Amino acid sequence: PHVLLLGAPGAGKGTQSKRLAETFDIEHVTTGDALRANKDMDISHMDTEYDTPRAYMEAGELVPDEVVNEIVKTALSEADGYVLDGYPRNLDQAEYLSEITDLDVVVFLDVSEEELVDRLTGRRVCDECGANYHVEFSPPEEEGVCDECGGDLIQRDDDTEDTVRERLRVYEENTEPVVEHYRDEGTLVEVDGEGTPDDVFEAIRGEVEAAT
Ligand code: AP5
Ligand code: ZN
Repeated sequence: PHVLLLGAPGAGKGTQSKRLAETFDIEHVTTGDALRANKDMDISHMDTEYDTPRAYMEAGELVPDEVVNEIVKTALSEADGYVLDGYPRNLDQAEYLSEITDLDVVVFLDVSEEELVDRLTGRRVCDECGANYHVEFSPPEEEGVCDECGGDLIQRDDDTEDTVRERLRVYEENTEPVVEHYRDEGTLVEVDGEGTPDDVFEAIRGEVEAAT
């Protein structure tokens, strides 16, 4: 299947995409992880405001379209089935996406703003393997240590309260129109993103199975 998972920062896209990729044996294509892995890539030749993705990400702003479009194009050309996470984030990216692939289903994870802030400011990630935790909702067995690999758990640079607020503002301004676009097109299905991770997963799985 070709699945697009939409949702605000902290809605659970990463958490659910990993499970979908395993269950359906498809690629997890995520612009956020790809950019974090290439934070210091020199993009100055692209006539951008900042010279690296890092500067945009730490400010909570969108990395320029030409950088992310290229990442997605390459990743999708190598994938048979996929779940796309973190892209498209504005209408221009949505238009570009429609030129390079067809989607089977667009799932929107609905979560309230208050819950988003709690999730993001409490998130911790493993700096070795990338596993995701939450200090309250899914703590590791030993504080600060990854259950899976023993690596250190750290806070993402953009998960501080001020940057979280800015990411939510950027989401409202740029990405909510993308949600409306797919809703108008009739391809959007909405899932309540506030249940337990297992409940949310079962709801998404049902939508993907119904669409493919
Ligand atoms: P990106 O990495 O995509 O971040 P995001 O969209 O802000 O999403 P997050 O990863 O923060 O949240 P998520 O929805 O994946 O939630 P998660 O599962 O982790 O982008 C980062 C930056 O990169 C952007 O700001 C931008 O600069 C740049 N960028 C990326 N894509 C771009 C693009 N296309 N164009 C331009 N720039 C781009 O869950 C969050 C927390 O909640 C975790 O702690 C988790 O354990 C917990 N949790 C998850 N589900 C539940 C649940 N059901 N109940 C309780 N807790 C839960
Ligand atoms: Zn780990």
